[in-house]
Amino acid sequence: MRLDIVTIFPEYLEPLNVSLVGKARARGQLDVRIHDLRQWAHDKHNTVDDTPYGGGPGMVMKPEPWGEALDSVLASGEGEPVVVVPTPSGEPFTQQLAVELSAKPWLVFTPARYEGIDRRVIEEYGDRLDVREVSIGDYVLAGGEAPVLVMVEAVARLLPGVLGNAASHQDDSFAPGAMADLLEGPVYTKPPEWRGRTIPEVLVSGHHGKIARWRRDEAFRRTDRNRPDLIERADPAAFDKHDRAM
Ligand code: ADE
Repeated sequence: MRLDIVTIFPEYLEPLNVSLVGKARARGQLDVRIHDLRQWAHDKHNTVDDTPYGGGPGMVMKPEPWGEALDSVLASGEGEPVVVVPTPSGEPFTQQLAVELSAKPWLVFTPARYEGIDRRVIEEYGDRLDVREVSIGDYVLAGGEAPVLVMVEAVARLLPGVLGNAASHQDDSFAPGAMADLLEGPVYTKPPEWRGRTIPEVLVSGHHGKIARWRRDEAFRRTDRNRPDLIERADPAAFDKHDRAM
């Protein structure tokens, strides 16, 4: 998969050299190209923002540098990328959207600072490409770079061969499957006793059926406590008698 990121803070994307994403890049599974937007600004101060029409606080990113940047990135590859525009006004970033994006060969991210990018840029590229305005949550960050780090990690770990154990995202919270509507429950490892705290007996019982039942019950309890909205909105057929009795 190829990823292009256009930003005024290339150094903000340094974490993409580390850990899972860094390793995927080193193995050639991910081709990440980071571009400094200011290389497409032409005045002596490399200006990329200006005051908003209609007044109001803050600055708006100018359309010309973004247009040149996107034209240049688009011309450097084959086919058409999906363009992901991080903004608190976008559609929610979900595991489902991560799965959808992980199937694309090429993504272009346009993290903005200030009050966002001149609307005409979104319209111009939206007329020819799949442009997705995406929010990572109902809070406002200082820019789109941190959301890009979040989205790239969520997408990269879904690529074939990137996670050590292919099964390890199958039971993630929000993953499709039997536990699709539930959060993941608690996990334990050795030692069997730590500071006087033991582990649930059932996990060392060797009884796979009982372990599965226990995991599901714990998942249900945790979801009910932390995200009751997920249970509310799920298909009631997703829950069995045992769940409902909890
Ligand atoms: N830019 C600022 N806040 C954001 C958010 N919550 N999601 C995506 N991009 C953003």
